[in-house]
Amino acid sequence: MSQLKENLLTDTSLTSLPQPHLTARGFCLTSAFWMVIATFAGLLGATELIAPDLTANIGWLVFGRIRPIHINLVLFGFVTPGLLAAAFYYFPRLLRTELFSERLGVVTVIAWNVTLVAAMVSLAMGYTQGREYAEMVWPIDIMIVAAFVLVFTNLAMTVKRRREPILYVSVWYVLAATVLTAATYSLGNVIWRPDSGSLVGIPDAILLWFYGHNVFGLLLTPLAAGVTYYIIPRACRAPLYSHTLSLLGFWSLIVVYTHIGTHHLLQVPVPTWLKVIAIVDSVAMVIPVMAFLLNIWFTAKGRLGEIHADIGAKFVFTGTIMYFFVSIQGSMMSLPQVQRVTHFNNWVVGHAHVGVLGFAGMIALGGLYYILPKITNRPLYSRFLADLQYWLVLIGVVGFTVVLTIAGLIQGSAWLNGETVYRLLAEIHVYYVVRASLGLMVFVGALIGLYNILQTLYGKAGEAP
Ligand code: HEM
Ligand code: HEM
Repeated sequence: MSQLKENLLTDTSLTSLPQPHLTARGFCLTSAFWMVIATFAGLLGATELIAPDLTANIGWLVFGRIRPIHINLVLFGFVTPGLLAAAFYYFPRLLRTELFSERLGVVTVIAWNVTLVAAMVSLAMGYTQGREYAEMVWPIDIMIVAAFVLVFTNLAMTVKRRREPILYVSVWYVLAATVLTAATYSLGNVIWRPDSGSLVGIPDAILLWFYGHNVFGLLLTPLAAGVTYYIIPRACRAPLYSHTLSLLGFWSLIVVYTHIGTHHLLQVPVPTWLKVIAIVDSVAMVIPVMAFLLNIWFTAKGRLGEIHADIGAKFVFTGTIMYFFVSIQGSMMSLPQVQRVTHFNNWVVGHAHVGVLGFAGMIALGGLYYILPKITNRPLYSRFLADLQYWLVLIGVVGFTVVLTIAGLIQGSAWLNGETVYRLLAEIHVYYVVRASLGLMVFVGALIGLYNILQTLYGKAGEAP
């Protein structure tokens, strides 16, 4: 364990080896580029909610196509590649070996981007299987599963060739995330039925939401936890508070998160026992969540100055605070009495943005900013621009949460009292306007991020403003 601690605290374990970091660079660029496209799609969708006639006769821009484009691109274009970029950097360091194959990594990055383009174009053309988070048609499903298998193969083979006997918890999280996502994606997208990509009736809804929530629970959460466990001790120059607690957090996540998807279906006639399991374990999520957070926060205790000084760690640490909020909120939303008000309205959209942008997205950006100076061997092009992006994203996501939660409460309580959906639209219009304005900030932040990252990777050194 002492050598592992040493690796975590110093940057010297691999300095003698040539490290092109092509795969990490590729995923950095992928994440920064698709964040721009994805947030633009979100902004367009938000504008359409304010002015529904804006794109009425332009088929490929209607809300029903823009929304899945936004969601799939934030998930698979921005957040996942951002978190994988960091993983491709820290795997060799934690395992004291080189990446199994940079060539395979580059092929994976290319395949990943081809898949994203195919997903975006096909969704814009109206090819969809119409199931949330599983919209893409069969050939693209296969491409996505293949991409995850390639990532897993490269990382697992790196583990096989390791010189470090102990597997730090970040390694556990990333291997689990990639292999389990390849499996749950195949199941949730019913890839053995290429035509429809679905079962029929209630079993289909259960399977879909088993997969749907595992996108967050078995993909984004473990990848983000892996990055956090790597960056926070390094940035604080402190050993991890508890390795035992980190494993407790890992295993309880796997045990508890995997079967709470039915909390998306509490208003649906699924078997009651399934709902009971989903509700009880949604509350039990406090175990993996707090095991992870306490471990990180105790590691950082008394060292917030170091975190503030490192822009990557600052993003990551903020992400952990968001994780606290989204999880407490999520456990509450799983209670039927609460969900009677919050279901099907903007409250859930608010929760979604705290989770995917505030928690996983912030940590993905933190990972990028942490590794960029290390993989390029020179300072970040502009700390000022990175800070600016931090504030734009932070104000954006907190603002989203406030306005969408208020709008959701207005909708939910009015519906409960028998009000119709359309009569409320005028009342929530102003919240949609504020949301779109905040979205513009996040989009500008994405543009700034792309510029900063491109300059760091390819610009002339020392040009920063
Ligand atoms: C303890 C942890 C969590 C619990 C118990 C939880 C619970 C829930 C519940 C009950 C819903 C459904 C609400 C409804 O339809 O009425 C939901 C939706 C959602 N959650 Fe969470 N959540 C948790 C953490 C997270 C995290 C960490 C993320 C992101 C990484 C996330 C992302 C989402 C998203 C995107 C949706 C919207 C799904 C949709 O499109 O309908 N959640 N969550
Ligand atoms: C990279 C940052 C972002 C992430 C990770 C993200 C994530 C998500 C997710 C997971 C959903 C599904 C919510 C649900 O069904 O409950 C969603 C929906 C949406 N997002 Fe984003 N989003 C981001 C940025 C933005 C921005 C900048 C805007 C612009 C205002 C935006 C506007 C929307 C809209 C309009 C929806 C559809 C909501 C609805 O169906 O009513 N998002 N986003």
